[in-house]
Amino acid sequence: MGLTGLLTPAPEAARRVLFVVSEMADFVKAGGLGDVAAALPRALRDRADMRVLIPGYREVLERTGPIEVVGQTEAHAGLPACAIGHTVLEDGLPVYVLICPALYERDGSPYVDRAGQPWADNAVRFATLSRAAALIAAGDAGLTWQPGLLHLNDWPCALAAAYVRWTGCAATCLLTIHNLAYQGLFPTALAAELGIAPSQCEALDFHGQLSFLRGGIVHADRVNTVSVSYAAQITSPAEGCGLDGLLSGRAALGHLSGIVNGIDASWDPSTDSHLPAHFDVRNFDGRDHNARHVRRAFGLPESRGPLFAVVSRLVHQKGLDMTCDVAPQIVAAGGQLVIIGGGEPEVEAQVLALARRFPGSVAAYIGFDETLARRMFAGADFLLMPSRFEPCGLSQMYAQRFGCLPIAHATGGLIDTVDDGVTGFLFNGPESDMLRRCVQRAFRTFRQPRLMLAMRRAAMLRPSGWDVAGMHYMNLYQRTSEARA
Ligand code: ADP
Ligand code: GLC
Repeated sequence: MGLTGLLTPAPEAARRVLFVVSEMADFVKAGGLGDVAAALPRALRDRADMRVLIPGYREVLERTGPIEVVGQTEAHAGLPACAIGHTVLEDGLPVYVLICPALYERDGSPYVDRAGQPWADNAVRFATLSRAAALIAAGDAGLTWQPGLLHLNDWPCALAAAYVRWTGCAATCLLTIHNLAYQGLFPTALAAELGIAPSQCEALDFHGQLSFLRGGIVHADRVNTVSVSYAAQITSPAEGCGLDGLLSGRAALGHLSGIVNGIDASWDPSTDSHLPAHFDVRNFDGRDHNARHVRRAFGLPESRGPLFAVVSRLVHQKGLDMTCDVAPQIVAAGGQLVIIGGGEPEVEAQVLALARRFPGSVAAYIGFDETLARRMFAGADFLLMPSRFEPCGLSQMYAQRFGCLPIAHATGGLIDTVDDGVTGFLFNGPESDMLRRCVQRAFRTFRQPRLMLAMRRAAMLRPSGWDVAGMHYMNLYQRTSEARA
């Protein structure tokens, strides 16, 4: 992308942006999307009028200040009427909250119930969110503010691009794909309930089901994803999740691009209030203190060997099976391994069995704990991230920022953010043997303190803020808003 493009002021419509999202770390976070939703609108605020639209989950209603009802959406087909609340977060970020207690005020995550099962009415829940975004864009929700551009994130709001098209509204839509593997697939028999006419189903059709994500990819003016490498990979049959043909077509027209995520300024080992001890590139003493703290927290004994960490959703994507395969060698070579995560019951069971097999060397915590995760990045020597695919990945960026070197599969955003042999280690091919060899390289590096220190420093100094990504997004907003000119 040329610098000229980056410096051209965005047109008016590209500077009134409704950022639509189903999770935001301020309130509720299931993965990296929540972090991006909390950071990106803030990173763009001095360049655009950024406002967020999020469902009124219990956590949102409880954690915001007063919410003023400023609009409403009417019921449509099987989608219920909602109120639109408005609140301003402590730092001034305006947030619209889609209020519908029957759909959103529940115990559980945005997507699944307490037992980990997707909510049975997810199609209605997220079609309602999508339609509300489209009504706001059309000026049909009673608000005094109207966005020129909708920035949609992943399948839960992808359908907004379709509703915008079907209603003939002039706003343009950018769809960001954070993970192509989650499409939002629902029975086609639900179409009428979602207010989708039979003739409109074709754009959403994925092997006889409705794919919300496909609808978004077809109808959004521009599509992007969260790294340059993943943008290229998803146009291939191997990584395209059955949507590669469609995505290749959009790429050929210049409508698909990749922008690597950033991380926010709270990830600073010299100031992070979650850490027992602070450190920076000049003084690493605090790191040892944090490592002792992490070992204690996981019930592991003191050790002079390397400490490996996993901070991850425990799902097939993240390659925990490979980590479990390689763990015996880590232990045999004098390393220890701490794991935090939650997700698929089989993967959780596999991780717990590993910890039982190697007491004193491997320990696992099943659950979500932001403080412990930050301490692990700040104390561990290496982060294992053998993801089979990784659209961007934030954990490896957090780890680097805290001087913990990622050992990662060379895929997607991991290629774009880890400099092999400089800020971490990459291996080719998602296979246990390849990971094993990469772990051996890490052990060799650990035994050379000067090299280890140089790599830690390089990792910590790697630029990873939102400024560059922010410039690229402003440029993409501009191109998106010109798409139908
Ligand atoms: P994904 O979005 O695919 O899960 P990312 O690496 O982009 O992967 O983002 C994951 C985010 O969730 C990171 O902020 C990571 O630190 C955090 N995370 C994952 N699991 C846990 C956990 N069990 N406890 C605390 N933080 C976690
Ligand atoms: C998704 C991806 C992850 C990415 C995150 C934020 O959850 O799996 O790679 O970092 O979204 O964009």
